[in-house]
Amino acid sequence: MGFPAERPRRLRRSASLRRLVAETRLSIDSLVYPLFVHEALEPQPIPSMPGQQRWPVSGVVEEVRRAKQLGISAVILFGVPAQKDELGSQAYDPDGVVQRAVRAIKHHLPDVIVFADTCLDEYTSHGHCGVLKDGEVDNDATLEVLIRTALSQATAGADFVAPSDMMDGRVGAIRAALEESGFSGTGILAYSAKYASSFYGPFREAADSSPEFGDRRGYQMDFRNAREALREGTLDVQEGADILMVKPALAYLDIVRLFREHFSVPIAAYNVSGEYSMLKAAAARGWIDEEATMVEVVGSIARAGADIILTYHALELAQALA
Ligand code: PBG
Repeated sequence: MGFPAERPRRLRRSASLRRLVAETRLSIDSLVYPLFVHEALEPQPIPSMPGQQRWPVSGVVEEVRRAKQLGISAVILFGVPAQKDELGSQAYDPDGVVQRAVRAIKHHLPDVIVFADTCLDEYTSHGHCGVLKDGEVDNDATLEVLIRTALSQATAGADFVAPSDMMDGRVGAIRAALEESGFSGTGILAYSAKYASSFYGPFREAADSSPEFGDRRGYQMDFRNAREALREGTLDVQEGADILMVKPALAYLDIVRLFREHFSVPIAAYNVSGEYSMLKAAAARGWIDEEATMVEVVGSIARAGADIILTYHALELAQALA
């Protein structure tokens, strides 16, 4: 066969036909809304991420309620503590800002799924994702602090902990500690392929978490590598991860697809701050159509194979899809 018998345009003739034959359906069910929580009592807009705020604990509950009314039932929390120290001790403080926010959300909205980002960079004075020894992030010493953090998040009621530090062995260490402490139902969303990326810039402003010296290339992945992502994903599955994540999403859609093809666990992708801000900046100048671009961008992440999409566009997207 071939043209003229085959005419692919026949299936594009109307909007309802295009909907009928669509291969990918973007659903509110797959969205996770990332939220920053700080110690102050008022919300504070994040200049580099138009539309996003640092929320106080009470305000974050209201924002999650708003999300839920729009049909979004999962959030991930990042903490911005008032005080930082060498070890990042606010990360595992039972009264840390994320622990309080988790308790408040689970108290008022128990059926919302709460993911807690498990990492130290927002909490350490030096801004690195782990404990320093001789100017380097010490892998095994960091595991101890990640375990304490994950346990305190699970104790607060988090449904999932989400290690984003890229230390070797952290998923296994956290899984074992959760089992030992009676948290067999608490899941692990592993940031398995987290690349050392320039697209995290606005997040680091939002969380005040830029490293004081050096960069994160000693632990996050090199953007040139794809096979290495498979090794990371394989280790995380063996160590007990429930969900594997690729981050960022847009410049890494090939990795999302690779994960989809190689693993049977759910695959998540993180549409990160820089991807969000680029779109917002271009839209603010009138250079692109904001809503259409957003739907296309997030739709492409679903088409690449992500079951779960973390995106700051979650609320706007829910409105657009409704
Ligand atoms: C680390 C963490 C980062 C992001 C999520 N978790 C920042 C980093 O590695 O520097 C970035 C998310 C985004 O850019 O939206 N805790």
